[in-house]
Amino acid sequence: MKNFNLEKAGWLFMRGSGAVLIVLIFTHLSVNLLSDGGVKAIDFAFVAGKLANPFWQWFDVTLLWLALIHGANGMRTVINDYVLREKFRKGLLVALVASTALLIVMGTLVVFTLDPCPVGSPAELLPSFCPVA
Ligand code: HEM
Repeated sequence: MKNFNLEKAGWLFMRGSGAVLIVLIFTHLSVNLLSDGGVKAIDFAFVAGKLANPFWQWFDVTLLWLALIHGANGMRTVINDYVLREKFRKGLLVALVASTALLIVMGTLVVFTLDPCPVGSPAELLPSFCPVA
């Protein structure tokens, strides 16, 4: 990997992920906002029902990772361009990497571990596939 160029890889990633994000975000918005009932239909049952489906789990995780890495890489460029004091620049980059990693880990955990049928919850708040207590 002698000729690997990190800045070039980042430049290509921003163009590729940007194109994919347009498709993912508009699908996300239309499924959540244009389905029956519109934004008013978004409640626990709606979200838990979606996240019980492996297709939407992988869709959401792809959107989460791409949006966060795309946003963080863009922010890295802004920090490198505008922050002149070396120590402050390094500190901001560390904070950026830490907050991005934390959000990726927490978001991924939510998507794959959310319990759609929490015990003891009123049946009318849960997705229709939950067993009635
Ligand atoms: C009016 C605008 C929006 C609404 C009403 C909305 C609604 C929702 C809802 C209901 C969920 C949970 C269920 C699901 O997966 O669909 C969700 C999750 C998510 N949304 Fe949105 N969204 C909006 C805009 C956006 C935008 C612009 C992005 C990205 C740039 C985005 C990224 C995500 C991600 C990554 C998740 C999964 C989060 C996780 O649990 O880790 N959303 N959104």
